[in-house]
Amino acid sequence: MKFLGKPSSRRAAFLPLCLLFLKILHPGHSHLYSSRYAGDKVIRLIPNTEEEAYALKKIYQQLKVDLWQPSSISQVSEGTVTDVHIPHNGSRALLAFLQETNIQYKILMEDLQKVLEKGSSLPTQRSRRSVSGYNYEVYHSLEEIQNWMHHLNKTHSGLIHMFSIGKSYEGRSLFVLKLGRRSRAYKRAVWIDCGIHAREWIGPAFCQWFVKEALLTYRSDPTMRKMLNHLYFYIMPVFNVDGYHFSWTNDRFWRKTRSRNSRFRCRGVDANRNWRVKWCDEGASMHPCDDTYCGPFPESEPEVKAVANFLRKHKKHIRAYLSFHAYAQMLLYPYSYKYATIPNFSCVESAAYKAVNALQSVYGVQYRYGPASSTLYVSSGSSMDWAYKNGIPYTFAFELRDTGHFGFLLPEMLIKPTCTETMLAVKNITMHLLKKCP
Ligand SMILES: *[C@@H]1O[C@H](CO)[C@@H](O)[C@H](O)[C@H]1NC(C)=O
Ligand SMILES: *[C@@H]1O[C@H](CO)[C@@H](O)[C@H](O)[C@H]1NC(C)=O
Ligand SMILES: *[C@@H]1O[C@H](CO)[C@@H](O)[C@H](O)[C@H]1NC(C)=O
Ligand SMILES: *[C@@H]1O[C@H](CO)[C@@H](O)[C@H](O)[C@H]1NC(C)=O
Ligand SMILES: [Zn+2]
Repeated sequence: MKFLGKPSSRRAAFLPLCLLFLKILHPGHSHLYSSRYAGDKVIRLIPNTEEEAYALKKIYQQLKVDLWQPSSISQVSEGTVTDVHIPHNGSRALLAFLQETNIQYKILMEDLQKVLEKGSSLPTQRSRRSVSGYNYEVYHSLEEIQNWMHHLNKTHSGLIHMFSIGKSYEGRSLFVLKLGRRSRAYKRAVWIDCGIHAREWIGPAFCQWFVKEALLTYRSDPTMRKMLNHLYFYIMPVFNVDGYHFSWTNDRFWRKTRSRNSRFRCRGVDANRNWRVKWCDEGASMHPCDDTYCGPFPESEPEVKAVANFLRKHKKHIRAYLSFHAYAQMLLYPYSYKYATIPNFSCVESAAYKAVNALQSVYGVQYRYGPASSTLYVSSGSSMDWAYKNGIPYTFAFELRDTGHFGFLLPEMLIKPTCTETMLAVKNITMHLLKKCP
């Protein structure tokens, strides 16, 4: 606990400040986020008719709900499941409305604060470092993840090189790990990013898991050895660093970046709607206060611009782009922005089919797979479509566990099984790349 203990005579005066500091740094504390989610509910609703969908959209807007699924109110439609996080002061109004209109619903979480506190154990029981080193079965703060990256850069210089591709809006470094055996020969590469959306904490946990597994099994597992010998992996564990940090310190359900707007007080842009591919069309919002705000112009977010620049520069040898999100249990490929199949569909489709089967073989967890538009929903300006349009032939987005029982609050207990099964899918896709399909 390096944040504890300031041995000084001014200790007493420091104490209140220190406690406040601790509260912010340790969401494992029993007053997580100052109890701001006490009494909030998460409700699943299924509008069965167009009228019901219309009525839901209206009340969502009125009550300013935090939509968990789908990501924008415009995507609420007849027959689609919607999960909403409703603040405690609005839940009465929503429930009354639902009873009155007879819309089908189910309460997923009675008290969000309680779920949040149960999911991560208390700091005293929580060991951020296991005896044998790093604990990969807890969620890590941005600072911890960056320290971990620096550490690996020093201790595994044979396989890992850490570098920065730019700065975030708030001035944080955008770090990437280049993983793979160094070789003078030309090598193809795979890009992996996690944490485009801040509240999807299982993403960064998976990126860390992937690196751990690679280092741990490079010598013993022929598949991993082949992967690291024949390819480079560019891994960005936390894409949206500002947002991720904010989701630890202020708002657990923050999704966007943290950039300011010149005309509105609302902050942030959806970093997965900010790419120059059918930018700000269907499935994206022009309003700065919306969770799917596309930004003032494409690549307005420094984080998006930095990654886009990197991919543009290296697109000749980057053969695959993988992006990790949550939650839905899906493996998605282009297009997101339109209902159409991509050219060379069969190679991508068979890669997805095999990956999903490999994933399921571990614990029986089922993933749906297909074009993002028809499998999840239509969204424009996404990183996956952009990567595909810019010449990277294999582009996928994973929506990791679960399907709504815990949603964004996937307990730390489930990090290991989730990452273990996902690992198989990623290895399967990667091996597919090394075969004949273009
Ligand atoms: C609930 O409280 C928030 C903040 O205190 C306020 O902005 C919002 O309007 C309230 N909602 C309702 C439905 O009263
Ligand atoms: C990673 O290590 C190399 C030396 O092995 C060093 O040159 C580089 O600056 C390090 N990266 C970062 C981001 O510190
Ligand atoms: C990929 O998964 C399929 C099952 O879907 C399996 O038959 C195949 O052996 C796997 N390939 C690799 C390289 O893991
Ligand atoms: C489709 O595959 C052919 C070769 O089979 C390749 O030349 C072409 O570039 C591929 N197109 C795309 C969009 O990946
Ligand atoms: Zn996401």
